Amino acid sequence: MDTEKEKAAATTCSFCGKNKNSVKLLVTATTVAICNECIEFCTQTIKEHEDEESKNSPKIYDPITIKTHLDEHVIGQENAKIVLSVAIANHYKRITSPPKNLEMQKGNVLLIGPTGSGKTLLAKSVARLLDVPFIVADATSLTEAGYVGDDVESMISMLLAEAKGDVALAERGIVFIDEIDKIARKGESANISRDVSGEGVQQALLKLIEGTKCRVQPSGGRKHPSSEMTVVDTRNILFIAGGAFVGLNDIIKRRSKGSSLGFGAQIVSAEDKSFLSEVIPEDLTKFGMIPEFVGRFATTINVDDLTKDQLIKVLTDIKNNFIDQYKYLFELDGIKLSFNKDAIAQIAENCLKLKTGARGLQSEIERVLLPHMFNISKYKEADVKKININQELVDNPKVII
Ligand SMILES: Nc1ncnc2c1ncn2[C@@H]1O[C@H](COP(=O)(O)OP(=O)(O)OP(=O)(O)O)[C@@H](O)[C@H]1O
Ligand SMILES: [Mg+2]
Repeated sequence: MDTEKEKAAATTCSFCGKNKNSVKLLVTATTVAICNECIEFCTQTIKEHEDEESKNSPKIYDPITIKTHLDEHVIGQENAKIVLSVAIANHYKRITSPPKNLEMQKGNVLLIGPTGSGKTLLAKSVARLLDVPFIVADATSLTEAGYVGDDVESMISMLLAEAKGDVALAERGIVFIDEIDKIARKGESANISRDVSGEGVQQALLKLIEGTKCRVQPSGGRKHPSSEMTVVDTRNILFIAGGAFVGLNDIIKRRSKGSSLGFGAQIVSAEDKSFLSEVIPEDLTKFGMIPEFVGRFATTINVDDLTKDQLIKVLTDIKNNFIDQYKYLFELDGIKLSFNKDAIAQIAENCLKLKTGARGLQSEIERVLLPHMFNISKYKEADVKKININQELVDNPKVII
């Protein structure tokens, strides 16, 4: 009897009763079976149910929850994480419970700090967490309307595409404009008619950031006269801008030194000292950002250079860290890769000298592992199962067989 039931189950779907010959696939268990059509139907039903659930209970973002998430991906930058978490939580409050008789200002954020210190990483990590559309645009590719390149509205088309064409959703989104310092005016007194790469783009961005009804291509593509345009109101879109602002430190340093002249108070010994935490809007305009642009970013936060200990943590502690990534690559060839503590410390030390923040870590690891990766077949032939990288192999990378 049992075996008969089993046989029947193995040949027909227990849900719709279709025979295995009339469906693409029949997944069988001991006494039941399910066909691909019923699986698809169930998956769709579950998804609809989940969508409905999340629609009914929009996520509430608490700054501490956001920061905890950022901590998993970004080492250090405590202050930046806190300010960013608050800005995002407030953005959510504003858009989910808009005030009736009150005009609310957006809390656009400007992130400044050295290269490879985690500005873009912060933005990307925020994006992973949020359920509003979020895009990272590169300011270097933006141009004023009429010039070759993407005009600033292209960011809104990207956002709309990210929102799968849902205008209302796009209107609550977040735009991260990376490399914003690259659109600085060239030279403080530059007043050449219109400067394509710099001031003109800043001017074009003003309206968008302030809030305007912007006509964009729903597909996210380039403007085409014949296709229909969608209107997106940018009033509630949160803008976060980030840039390395190379040279800004000197501007602040000069100002703060200048102001203390005659008091003999400020003797700056460390050439590398960062003054970025003391930035005021005037410094940014000296750098080449137009005052109206600076004025639209209520919050300016600086990220710091990573210390050696932080670089070590970047290597070993965060999710998807470089060491785990390379371990995986070696694992694919059946080799267990490991690093001594000294070796890791030396890699961080070397990276510090490159002055490219954590960016240097990957190139350092590549340099150290290159001979081993190149000769992987020889290791396999020699049946090597383990490679341990010690300080000597960091100083002098070479094959160990
Ligand atoms: N604070 C950090 N924590 C963890 N990883 C980091 C951190 N900062 C940088 N990294 C690593 O370095 C890479 C480069 O960092 P990121 O792109 O965020 O730099 P950036 O500050 O945007 O620099 P740039 O001004 O040159 O654009 C990241 O992909 C990440 O792997
Ligand atoms: Mg960046």
